[in-house]
Amino acid sequence: MIILYKKLPAAVLSLIIVALILHSCTGHKAVRDETYDLWLKYKKVDNPALLEEYRQLITHLAAPGTSETIEIIREELNRGLSGLLGRDIPETDLVIYDGTLIIGTPETSDIIKKLKISAVLDTLGWEGFIIRKAKIGGKKSIIIAADREPGLIYGTFHLLRLMQTQRSLEDIDIASKPRIQNRLLNHWDNLDGTVERGYAGRSLWKWEELPDKIDPRYIDYARACASIGINGTVINNVNASPDILKTEYIQKVAALADIFRPYGIKVYLSINFSSPLKPSSVVGGRRGGIGNLGTADPLDAEVRKWWEEKVAEICGCIPDFGGFLVKANSEGMPGPQDYGRTHADGANMLAEALSAYNGIVMWRAFVYEPGADPDRAKRSYKEFVPLDGQFYPNVLVQAKNGPVDFQPREPVQPLFGAMPYTPLMLELQITQEYLGHSSHLVYLAPMWKEYLEFDTYARGKGSELAKIIDGTFYNYHLTGIAGVANTGDDPNWCGHFFAQSNWYAFGRLAWDHTLTAANIADEWIRMSVSNDDEVVDTIKSMMMGSWEACINYMTPLGLHHIMQEGFHYGPQPGHDKGRPDWTSVYYHRADGDGLGFDRSSQGSNATSQYFSPLREQFDDINTCPEKYLLWFHHVKWDHTLQSGNTLWEELCHRYCEGVGYVSGMIVRWDALAGKIDDDIYMHVKDKLQVQLKDAAVWKDTCLQYFRKFSGKEIPVCQQN
Ligand code: GCU
Repeated sequence: MIILYKKLPAAVLSLIIVALILHSCTGHKAVRDETYDLWLKYKKVDNPALLEEYRQLITHLAAPGTSETIEIIREELNRGLSGLLGRDIPETDLVIYDGTLIIGTPETSDIIKKLKISAVLDTLGWEGFIIRKAKIGGKKSIIIAADREPGLIYGTFHLLRLMQTQRSLEDIDIASKPRIQNRLLNHWDNLDGTVERGYAGRSLWKWEELPDKIDPRYIDYARACASIGINGTVINNVNASPDILKTEYIQKVAALADIFRPYGIKVYLSINFSSPLKPSSVVGGRRGGIGNLGTADPLDAEVRKWWEEKVAEICGCIPDFGGFLVKANSEGMPGPQDYGRTHADGANMLAEALSAYNGIVMWRAFVYEPGADPDRAKRSYKEFVPLDGQFYPNVLVQAKNGPVDFQPREPVQPLFGAMPYTPLMLELQITQEYLGHSSHLVYLAPMWKEYLEFDTYARGKGSELAKIIDGTFYNYHLTGIAGVANTGDDPNWCGHFFAQSNWYAFGRLAWDHTLTAANIADEWIRMSVSNDDEVVDTIKSMMMGSWEACINYMTPLGLHHIMQEGFHYGPQPGHDKGRPDWTSVYYHRADGDGLGFDRSSQGSNATSQYFSPLREQFDDINTCPEKYLLWFHHVKWDHTLQSGNTLWEELCHRYCEGVGYVSGMIVRWDALAGKIDDDIYMHVKDKLQVQLKDAAVWKDTCLQYFRKFSGKEIPVCQQN
């Protein structure tokens, strides 16, 4: 990997260009292969009619302006258009040719200003854009216009996406703006270069080299994020080391922020609540912080001052610093409860310090202290709902999609809808902690859509989760969505080639949650693999069923958390040692009678945390959707399901179906030999073999284990 020495900001762009040229000339196969470029490959359009159309519609480029963002846009368009059209597109200041592509805001471009479209642009906010045809001085042109420069970046990538996916531009007329304000990646990257729940190598951030040396990969990361609308990145693990707030690290973070800024990406930090403590102090068996105080009590004046000064220091180096993400009083992390204070007290202290700089606090609701309730699934709701309305305006409460922990499938976290006065932010997991790491092909957009479209019934029918988090439902003034990143320094960024589709899909859904999983898959395949319809259809069909298949071979019918202890990869249904809610037996509760966790009103009563009529629906074993059956009920082995099968038979059938789907993917993939890039073909072929083996291990281990309780034979697997 080539390393560049960071110079003054004015020189950054030329260095970037040199770096990119050098970078692509090294022939460093391990890095610069087909998959390094993600969905930004810009291969020449292979449809002759469309190529001709594009070549007529885009002959010249007019992108006036000198800002770093405009420079980046010009660079991206030069790269993209020359690749797609197979020829260079000259830049021009004047529109004297048909086919001039004009990009600008009313401030950067006189042409855009004269179009008198400010009223339209105003409605699109500072990130929205329009792309449409226009006659400028009698010449046929295409314009990308936005009120502010970030909108131009998104418009640029959108136009390139349309061309990469081979859409006609003849009648182009698009207006787009994001539905959610803060669209963040959360990196669980540690300062020692490891990545918690990372399966794609080491961290992208080379702390030992920063701030002086800038890895060109940071730029490609920013391009990739910007291309899908991500506008923020939390660069360190939620299990945060206090060291991230040391001056030396703030300078390193500032160097990253300088790289990301022109791409519209803000930097955020995860913080450790104990940071103000003396290094030598130990609270609850945990090490102290980096400060000089004897307490981290959020109501203590010295502690508040410490945070104010720290925020001032950060914002002195990073003027557009985004804010803090906080994991507090969860899984051993310190927090305000250590001092008898509430989550709101802790969040508000930080919010106050950040408010002078327009920073936000994302306070995580992933808490499950056993004292709150015997059922882990109920704890977050019980701790947070009473605090509704107590958070400062610049606080978002960030909750995972389900009430437990990123399981292959969970019902929705009942907090959503239950906190009308507190902006709730959705946390999804892109990295496949519980879904086969980077070994399994699992396309996650169908899962995320299931959550986004989940109707909470908070105020009757039509109270979908998506409306809650995009702010339209309760008029939240702040909105956000986060995805736990799956990136690392692996040559293909994500470990599994198909894991790239999950990064892509997260960004696209964060921008517009109404997009369908199938359309996003279609885009990704066309941009990343091929525009051949047969190839696209084959790959899309593999992707679309892959999540349900993974559920089937891991945790069908509402089973959950029966993975290997700690590692969370293979099955370990018999795990029964240690903290109860970290064992498998706590969750599946198999016995001679049946299987599943009784969370009905006869059991833990977690069903009561949902709004009517969901509450009643989930509570009744006969109306509970079968996908959540063993989540909410302890079901007798011979209970009859909709299929007519008993629970035991259906369980065996689902495991078998899951494995069968993977075999089917192998057949479908094999048919692509010779039709797609060889390296991608071989890489995925190998991964699918691993997935098949793993799926069979899941099936056999779980069925053999549950059989000890059901006392029944495992029927011969009959795959559809
Ligand atoms: C899971 C995961 C941890 C992570 C935690 C969190 O428990 O296994 O590695 O730290 O979630 O989201 O905070």
